[in-house]
Amino acid sequence: LRNKFIAAIAGASDEAALEEVRLSALGKKGEISALMGGLGKMEPEARKAAGASLNVLRDEIDAALRGRKAGLADAALDARLKSEWLDVTLPGRPRPAGTIHPVSQVMDELTAIFADMGFSVAEGPQIESDWFNFDALNIPPEHPARQEHDTFFMHRAEGDDRPPHVLRTHTSPVQIRALQAQGAPIRVIAPGRVYRMDMDQTHTPMFHQVEGLAIDRNVTMANLKWCLEEFCRAFFEVDEVELRFRASHFPFTEPSAEVDIRYSVQNGQIKLGQGDKWMEILGSGMVHPKVLAAAGVNPDEWQGFAFGMGIDRIAMLKYGIPDLRAFFEADLRWLRHYGFAA
Ligand code: PHE
Repeated sequence: LRNKFIAAIAGASDEAALEEVRLSALGKKGEISALMGGLGKMEPEARKAAGASLNVLRDEIDAALRGRKAGLADAALDARLKSEWLDVTLPGRPRPAGTIHPVSQVMDELTAIFADMGFSVAEGPQIESDWFNFDALNIPPEHPARQEHDTFFMHRAEGDDRPPHVLRTHTSPVQIRALQAQGAPIRVIAPGRVYRMDMDQTHTPMFHQVEGLAIDRNVTMANLKWCLEEFCRAFFEVDEVELRFRASHFPFTEPSAEVDIRYSVQNGQIKLGQGDKWMEILGSGMVHPKVLAAAGVNPDEWQGFAFGMGIDRIAMLKYGIPDLRAFFEADLRWLRHYGFAA
C-alpha cells in the first residue's frame, strides 16, 4: 500500500492529479482512512500495533504529498516565468543621440557673445538678387570684384534678359536689407551660409560667414578693433589674442582691413597663438558712403563699421581642426573623433 501511494504521488503531473491521490489515500473515503476506521473493531493488543504502523504510514504519505506539492508549485512558477518573461526592470536599449554640428555650435556661441555687445540678429535669403549681392555694395556690373567672387548663378528662362539671381557670395547683402528695414542707428550681426566656386583645405563651395554692422553718428575703426578683440577673447576663451590688421580693399568699405589671427600647427593640430602662422578670419572696414546711400541712409549723418567673418575658419581654430572640408562630409568617425557625436 505504501509503495503504491508513493509511486502515485511521484507520478502526479499537476496539483489536480496530486489532490486525487491525496483523497484516495487520506480523504474521508480514502484507503488509509478506511483502515484507520477499522481499528475500533480490533483487539486492544492488535489495535495498538496496527494503529502505530498506520500512523507512521499516514505521516509518511502526508509528507510525500507536501513535498510533491511544493515541487509542482515550483515547476508551475518556473513555467510561468518562462512564458511571461517580460522584465520591466531591464534597462532600456540606448539609441545613438544626435548632437549639434560644430558649425551650428559656433554660430550659437558667437550670436550670444555679440548679443552681449548689443548686436541683434538679421537675416537675408541665400538666393539673392545681384543688386543686393553686388550693385548696392558698390560693385557695379563691370567691376572686377564680380569675377573674384567665383559666383554661382541661378538660371533665367530663355528670353528673360534680367540679370540672374545668385547664390549669395557673402553675407554683406544683409547689411543693405537690415539698413532698409531698420534704418540708422543699427547694430546687427547676420550669420549664415554663403557660396563660392572654390575647394581646397581651407575652402569649401558652401561655407559660413557672420556679417557685423554697427552704424551710428560717430562709430570709428577703433570701435571695430575693440569689438573684434573682445569677441575673440570671449570666443576663444583666452586673455589675449594676437590680431593683425592688414590694409586691404573692398568696394563696400573705405578704409578696409583684413584681419589675421596668429596660430601654429602642432602634431597636425591647429593651436591658437605662439606661432609664425597667420590665418585670415575676416574682412572689414568703414562702410562706404555709397553703400549707406544705396540702403537709404544719409552718409552725411551716419557712419560705422562692417565686417564679414569666416565662421568655419574660427571653428577650425577653436577646435584645432586642420581641414575645413571634413566639416561638411558628415563622417560620424570624424565627428566622434573631435567629440561632436556620441
Ligand atoms: N564681404 C567680404 C567678404 O566676403 C567681407 C567683408 C564684409 C569686408 C564687410 C568688409 C566689410 O570677403
